[in-house]
Amino acid sequence: MAEFAGGAEALICLLADRVDEQVFDRCGSLRVVANYAVGFNNIDCAAATRAGVWVTNTPDVLTDATADCAWTLLLAVSRRVLEGDRLVRSGGFTGWRPDLLLGAGLQGKTLGVVGFGRIGQAVARRGAVFGMEVVYHSPRPIDSPLGVYQPDLDALLQQAHVVSLHCRLTPDTRRLLDRRRLGLMRPDAIVINTSRGEVVDEAALAAALAAGRLAGAGLDVYEEEPTVHRALLGLENVVLLPHVGSATREARAAMTELAVDNVLAVLAGRRPPTPVNDPATGKERK
Ligand code: DGY
Repeated sequence: MAEFAGGAEALICLLADRVDEQVFDRCGSLRVVANYAVGFNNIDCAAATRAGVWVTNTPDVLTDATADCAWTLLLAVSRRVLEGDRLVRSGGFTGWRPDLLLGAGLQGKTLGVVGFGRIGQAVARRGAVFGMEVVYHSPRPIDSPLGVYQPDLDALLQQAHVVSLHCRLTPDTRRLLDRRRLGLMRPDAIVINTSRGEVVDEAALAAALAAGRLAGAGLDVYEEEPTVHRALLGLENVVLLPHVGSATREARAAMTELAVDNVLAVLAGRRPPTPVNDPATGKERK
């Protein structure tokens, strides 16, 4: 990356590009790193701030696309959409049966949202439309009518029929859903992850699903992208997407515009529209 960025003043990078201290040390002309993603765990923001470089991301414009994707996964898992599709294509659909591919209804069930920023709240809003009770966990309560705050993550996990992850990846949230916490969940629960793969211990998740200690999972992100844990690949009760949470034409076009606007603002000596740090004050978005 340092070689690529060379003498550039601005860098637009993707979420798989690691922009670390070395890049800032070696690219003295850099003024702005514009991440083409809302998550910015791939960038060492503290090093950027020390080097006087703005870091920006693409919030808001992908909120609905990502919330829709979380719900796509949830409905696909709860109504066994891919199993049904495979059955039809393989010629296994031999007629209507009262017990064919029974799934789980969502009305009246509890949706646990972990991380209640823009995307978590958009997922909660959809949950209300589906008649779900929404509880959420985040470092502090949010002034929002969309859900009930649960300060104790363990309690949320014990209660929720669906746990949807929307927290940022930080040292505190890495493997937040580990073996112990997965063990607290209801055996009929579904896990949805459209945040970052590293928030979940994938091996522990696969083991819980295989043992029937969890009902299903819908995953868009993985610990070692693009590699997916082998144990997940063979499981029927898992729906796997290739990190396409924000992949609508509309969202991607808006992300492109926003990343470019961020770059142009900094190059013109202005504050970028969506910064995650401020090299002048040393402040960083936590
Ligand atoms: C993001 O913007 O962080 C998403 O993961 C991209 O889809």
